[in-house]
Amino acid sequence: MQKKEHRFSYELYDSAKELKEEDAQLLNDARAVTKNAYAPYSHFRVGAMAKLENGQTVAGTNQENASFPVGICAERVLLSTAASLYPGVAIDTLAVSYDNENGPSDQPISPCGICRQSLQEFEQRTGRPIRIILGGQKGKVYIIPQAGLLLPFAFTSEELKSYF
Ligand code: THU
Repeated sequence: MQKKEHRFSYELYDSAKELKEEDAQLLNDARAVTKNAYAPYSHFRVGAMAKLENGQTVAGTNQENASFPVGICAERVLLSTAASLYPGVAIDTLAVSYDNENGPSDQPISPCGICRQSLQEFEQRTGRPIRIILGGQKGKVYIIPQAGLLLPFAFTSEELKSYF
């Protein structure tokens, strides 16, 4: 038997003021785009903004539905939009923020499990890591160098190779 360990490093900033200008701008855009979320059920508005490797920016917001499982997270709305508008173009950096009608927005949130799976495959299909900036409307900010780090032991297309 061997003991194994999985670790990853990320950056922690006390506030967005410590970020370099381009990152602060992307996080501010993610903060602002929360207003476009459709979240009449959770009242939790999530905004995502990505800078693509071709220089374009793409936004995503959560879009809920009266049939709750139909709702889509901001991150996956963004990934679908990016792939539809700019097929094959990698995402350089993705910022995620939120606004919560029922509470503060003063600490980072991180992508849900389904979004982690989608982010991992987006990295794989474009061959480039997605750097992620996570922060509320104020407070601490995390920068994670690669989305796939959030999903250790991911199930990937590699596993399906023997079937297709
Ligand atoms: N949500 C996102 O859009 N992204 C996340 O990273 C976490 C959760 C949405 C889903 C739902 O519309 C609302 O936030 C509350 O879960």
